[in-house]
Amino acid sequence: MKKLQIIARLSILLVIFLVLNACQTASENYPIDYEQLSEDERIVIRFSHVVGEDTPKGMAARKFAELLKERSNGFIEVQVFSNGKLYKDGEEMEALQRGDVQMIAPATSKLTKLIPEIAIYDLPFAFRSYDEIHEYSKSSAGRHLVDKLEAHNLIALSIWDSGFKQLSNNVRPITHYSDLKGLQMRIMPSDILHKQFTTVGSSTKLIDFNNVFNELQKSTIDGQENTLSNFTSKSMYTLQNYLTISNHGYLGYFVLFNLEFWNSLSPDVKLLIHEVLVEVEQWEWAAAEKLNKEKLNEIEECQCIDIEYLDEGSMEEWEQAMLPVYDYYRAKYSNYYLNSLPKFEN
Ligand code: SIN
Repeated sequence: MKKLQIIARLSILLVIFLVLNACQTASENYPIDYEQLSEDERIVIRFSHVVGEDTPKGMAARKFAELLKERSNGFIEVQVFSNGKLYKDGEEMEALQRGDVQMIAPATSKLTKLIPEIAIYDLPFAFRSYDEIHEYSKSSAGRHLVDKLEAHNLIALSIWDSGFKQLSNNVRPITHYSDLKGLQMRIMPSDILHKQFTTVGSSTKLIDFNNVFNELQKSTIDGQENTLSNFTSKSMYTLQNYLTISNHGYLGYFVLFNLEFWNSLSPDVKLLIHEVLVEVEQWEWAAAEKLNKEKLNEIEECQCIDIEYLDEGSMEEWEQAMLPVYDYYRAKYSNYYLNSLPKFEN
């Protein structure tokens, strides 16, 4: 009888052990849906930018958010605020430095307030192709420029393209650089962009991206330079009579994080973000090139603006006319960044 009681007790204990063990294994296997957790329990990255959704930057920001959410099972959420909804052009850098947002991707020209030498990317006719730009950004001169941002609580982890810039204005068709004489042109904050226009006799006005359309409408400026994806996404072609496909300069972005925030992330999270950024960078470069070609086709087909094209010969003339801009850069900044440009290295 006693033996039976012992066997019964042992059987009960065995059943309890098996049930508990099964429960634990089940909970370990249960897929965690981090999206159900509160913001405090996840990583939330607020990413502010000033352009439209259907631009290379807008599309890449969404792609980055989508891939990170998928690869982290919802543990990392990137909240994208486009069109300057959260912070405007002149505000987003300080918001990032303060840590009010964790990520922005400003045009390199807008970083020249902090690191003036970054204006190397603004030099007219500095690069002949996207490959040259991308290679420069990964070269030791390019890395050296990016490293300087750390002193400003910023870290740049990628370069994204907007594309090559074109010129538009309301006064006359521009084919020769002397056609720019007397025009007032909108620029981003960069002394090299200012010098580029004053060298050929234009004056410049510094205007935030989100106000360019209004200022064109009010005719406080005659023209501007931008990539076709920015030009069309903000309907600037509706206010300008002449467009010149000049490809005279580059507009691209450094993808920046607040350094303190970045340093607070675990090695695993940093690795995942790095991997996703490498993938998105390649994707963005292809998307930007494709989108700018599509926009050129659309604008050619709409016949809503006079379009001029610079041929190889004119480009060389323009490039020669812009040499004082290089002299200015050389005198003010450093030969090192200039001499590392592919056009001077090869
Ligand atoms: C941007 O592409 O982020 C804006 C560029 C500009 O200010 O023209």
